[in-house]
Amino acid sequence: MLTKDSPLLVTGGAGFIGSHFVLDWFATAGTPLVNLDKLTYAGNLRNLGSVAHKPGYTFVRGDIRDRELVDGLLHTHRPRAIVHLAAESHVDRSLMGPGEFLDTNVHGTFVMLEAARAYWQELEAVDQEQFRFLHVSTDEVYGSLKPGDAPFEETFAFRPNSPYAASKAASDMLVRAWHKSYGLPTVVTNCSNNYGPMQFPEKLLPLVLNRAIHGEPLPIYGDGMQVRDWLYVGDHAAALRVALERGKPGETYNIGGWNEQTNLDTVTMLCALLDEFLPDSPHRPHARLMTSVADRPGHDRRYAINATKAERELGWRPAETFETGLRKTVRWYLDNQAWVEEVTSGAYREWMETNYAGR
Ligand code: NAD
Ligand code: DAU
Repeated sequence: MLTKDSPLLVTGGAGFIGSHFVLDWFATAGTPLVNLDKLTYAGNLRNLGSVAHKPGYTFVRGDIRDRELVDGLLHTHRPRAIVHLAAESHVDRSLMGPGEFLDTNVHGTFVMLEAARAYWQELEAVDQEQFRFLHVSTDEVYGSLKPGDAPFEETFAFRPNSPYAASKAASDMLVRAWHKSYGLPTVVTNCSNNYGPMQFPEKLLPLVLNRAIHGEPLPIYGDGMQVRDWLYVGDHAAALRVALERGKPGETYNIGGWNEQTNLDTVTMLCALLDEFLPDSPHRPHARLMTSVADRPGHDRRYAINATKAERELGWRPAETFETGLRKTVRWYLDNQAWVEEVTSGAYREWMETNYAGR
């Protein structure tokens, strides 16, 4: 019989958001958790050092597309829920090589759903009611907003524009179908841009911080007036925790921080914080390093989340403001330069060359 102490099976728990989810879980619920992660370039077990030896924590290196492995984990650990975060997540990489995004995000989600369905169908009726498949998705499935458009609601049509967004939209559709067709108790969250400690320095904030600290040009795609709705990653982790407990099967919840910023404003704020924290830096004022480069093809102009449903039905609200969250983030990167150096060796340099050399 499943209980509140039955484990969670988390996929992608060594990634940016996944590792914050795992850390938050052990700081709050503290019940057992199995973390299945392939450890691609984006996965990093260092993020999880503080929980690695906790009773109840199990790490399994493996691929979500390995049905036999996933079946074995479900059979052995008898989880009460699956929290599915594993994905390829960087838009620029999806433009250079979309195949991996379809394989992992679409086929991988299909394998997880089929394994979950087989496991769930064998459960007692009372356990079937308890079980949840929480699918972690993105606001990019809704496409791009114009200035003045209302923020994304859960009922908006999907209009994905990048291969990444299309692969996530496809995975969301599969989750919907597995609920409608088979009754699998799924919950979907669509979240806006996350930032915070331990984010791989290919995404805007850590990339800019890392380059600014070293006095390197800060690449601003196009005119820099694209708008993103930033949420501190710890707030997303907390939202996933409550969505797991209070989310209704078959429902979708938009998660966001009511915090729309242009990229120019975001980078300017980061530079101002670096000026403050590094008064002796020869690179001050860091904003001088901002450099316009060729735009991202198909670049979405604006994302904005209406998080009313999550606030009303889950009782969730972000704890951090952009100001407090950015301060924590900049401080963390300054205090953890060894982490950054480790993840930016070898393959990272090749990525920087591939994505930025021709811009
Ligand atoms: P990330 O790229 O930092 O981490 C992804 C993790 O998944 C890594 O640990 C990687 O090793 C693992 N992984 C990749 N392919 C795998 C496979 N085939 N099998 C097992 N593990 C695999 O991603 P993130 O930014 O932490 O995003 C996590 C999830 O949240 C994704 O589904 C993403 O679409 C979604 N999301 C991200 C954001 C954001 O701003 N980063 C916002 C909304 C939603
Ligand atoms: O909205 C949620 C999504 O946010 C997640 O689903 C994705 O996994 C995550 O990567 C993120 O997508 P974005 O494309 O918005 O994030 P990124 O950090 O790549 O870029 C943020 C903005 O900054 C975007 O408008 C592009 C711009 N940018 C990005 C980079 C890497 C630049 O101007 N220069 C850069 O070098």
